[in-house]
Amino acid sequence: MMSNQTSALGTMVDPELVEGLTQRPLQIPSKYFYDQRGSALFDRICDLPEYYLTRTGDALLDHRSEEIARLTRARQLVELGAGSARKTRHLIVSLLAQDGGLHYTPLDISRYALKQAEASLTEEFPELHIMGIECDYTVGLEPLDPDPGCLAVFLGSTIGNFPHPSGVALLRRLRDRLAPGDWFLMGVDLVKPVSVLEAAYNDQSGVTAEFNKNILNAVNREAGGDFDPTGFQHLAFFNELDSQIEMYLVARAPTRVRLADLDTELHLEGGERIRTEISRKFTPESTKRLLAEAGFDLRHWFESDNRYFALALARVPED
Ligand code: AVJ
Repeated sequence: MMSNQTSALGTMVDPELVEGLTQRPLQIPSKYFYDQRGSALFDRICDLPEYYLTRTGDALLDHRSEEIARLTRARQLVELGAGSARKTRHLIVSLLAQDGGLHYTPLDISRYALKQAEASLTEEFPELHIMGIECDYTVGLEPLDPDPGCLAVFLGSTIGNFPHPSGVALLRRLRDRLAPGDWFLMGVDLVKPVSVLEAAYNDQSGVTAEFNKNILNAVNREAGGDFDPTGFQHLAFFNELDSQIEMYLVARAPTRVRLADLDTELHLEGGERIRTEISRKFTPESTKRLLAEAGFDLRHWFESDNRYFALALARVPED
């Protein structure tokens, strides 16, 4: 790992970004997708006919939320990467319908998203207690201190963005904030025909390509860069061996990029790729393994009718 780089302005550049841009193949952490424009583009992706994930995952959660509420009887709901919390509404309704009140603790890197979620949820559910936590859950979960018996959720198959070892590390950090008997619900996108997978990341209207290129604007802001997004092409394909979609930006020509805050210049060859995302596709077995390595017991498995998406309900073992 590189040490933090201090810019001329004295601001620290994210060491994870520095590491990604000083190694080959080049990599940009996927969290940089979700600036204000990127979050809006992601919302548009969710409405694309090809992008089955969010639709399928949301419908599955809606369909199963009463059962999940009955099984967990949770009085606190913790959500990693809550965003606008639009996926979570049904579950909130089902948990609120039980006695005892409900505390909702959304975690998100974006203060803007938290404020929005808080405002709309307060209006919709006046009896809900909301306490948002602004934090990058990929770095640490120290600010999280939930009550025993809580239900933590990580929806949308965002876990797929993390290679196995860092996924385990992330879930383990979560587990360490939880108590024996606490619950964890995780959304996972499942392995399915390659044509369906690849279409979801190569939509006809080009929104995913825009979303991909927009990450360079966020990097420019973070590192004082002068990336020209139009100089890159969107590439996404399914890597069957690693069971993951891989997304890249491919330099259309030899390219020089100045990164002022890192006091360095990048030289890319024509055709050189920058990896911006992996999106792993799971099976019941690979999900169970991931959870087990992080110290969770898989207790219930819910699949959508088309078997595209699943929800894994796990528990911290009582010892
Ligand atoms: C939000 C991480 C689940 O991996 O499918 C959408 C992000 N990337 N289109 C995914 C994404 C390209 C998405 N997740």
